[in-house]
Amino acid sequence: MGFLALVFLQLLVVGKCYGRPATFLQDFRVTWSDAHIKQLMNGSGIQLTLDQTSGCGFASKSKYMFGRVSMKIKLIPGDSAGTVTAFYMNSDTDTIRDELDFEFLGNRSGQPYTVQTNVYAHGSGNREQRVNLWFDPSADFHTYSILWNRHHVVFSVDDTPIRVYKNNMIRGVSYPTSQPMGVYSTLWNADNWATRGGLEKINWAQAPFLAYMKDFDIEGCSVPGPSSCPSNPSNWWDTQPYQQLSPYQARKYKWVRMHYMIYDYCTDKSRFPVVPPECMDGI
Ligand SMILES: *[C@@H]1O[C@H](CO)[C@@H](O)[C@H](O)[C@H]1NC(C)=O
Ligand SMILES: *[C@@H]1O[C@H](CO)[C@@H](O)[C@H](O)[C@H]1NC(C)=O
Repeated sequence: MGFLALVFLQLLVVGKCYGRPATFLQDFRVTWSDAHIKQLMNGSGIQLTLDQTSGCGFASKSKYMFGRVSMKIKLIPGDSAGTVTAFYMNSDTDTIRDELDFEFLGNRSGQPYTVQTNVYAHGSGNREQRVNLWFDPSADFHTYSILWNRHHVVFSVDDTPIRVYKNNMIRGVSYPTSQPMGVYSTLWNADNWATRGGLEKINWAQAPFLAYMKDFDIEGCSVPGPSSCPSNPSNWWDTQPYQQLSPYQARKYKWVRMHYMIYDYCTDKSRFPVVPPECMDGI
């Protein structure tokens, strides 16, 4: 009886952390324009709308200290130039901001979507990288995820790493380890910079612009929550297999960098005459 009760309790606890995916309203709240976010499939998915009146956005109800967040996203099809769909984590602290960004930059029909990633750690950002996707991200749902632990941050697309930011604190490089972050998403008009550096403007004749998200999965230590959670070595995202890329993941990451990377701040001599220290890693 005592044993069964214990097993049951563990199931409850585990169920709370790992009973995924969640519905939209379990994890998130709308932060910008309710009218532009429509729940679908009984709340397991949503439709985001950008039109001439507004874009929209949402945020997680909790913040998290380490973990992995993922969702499936189907981006705006056709002429999406000037639009940006973002999915990111943010500490919400102005001056010492930590932020991990995925930004999907729309393009003219037939031109490739670009994914920009950026990392802010303890207030310092300017670490943009850009890759073009190797598939049409508006034709179907694909999984986008951010893994964040003490060892590294890994941005992945369908389990292919497209960006790794290692913990190089030992070399004096800032790394997010001291503040919890929330999960955010927005869809907005960024035609002053997004597509070909702002040359391509939004074609409002194509509005409304629609993006879809589903299968929300946040696994991490919520804050506020048990204070022992973030340092519990049995959190799966902290275990050995997640402390570095596997040889297979490393090969895929190299393949993305060789064939699809179109911009890397690490090699932008005009912005950084001195190569930033975290770039010395190689890959
Ligand atoms: C929709 O979700 C609610 C709350 O999670 C649940 O009670 C209900 O059975 C679901 N309905 C369908 C059709 O899945
Ligand atoms: C859009 O397409 C152009 C032309 O192929 C390409 O140079 C650019 O990198 C693409 N992405 C963005 C965000 O401009």
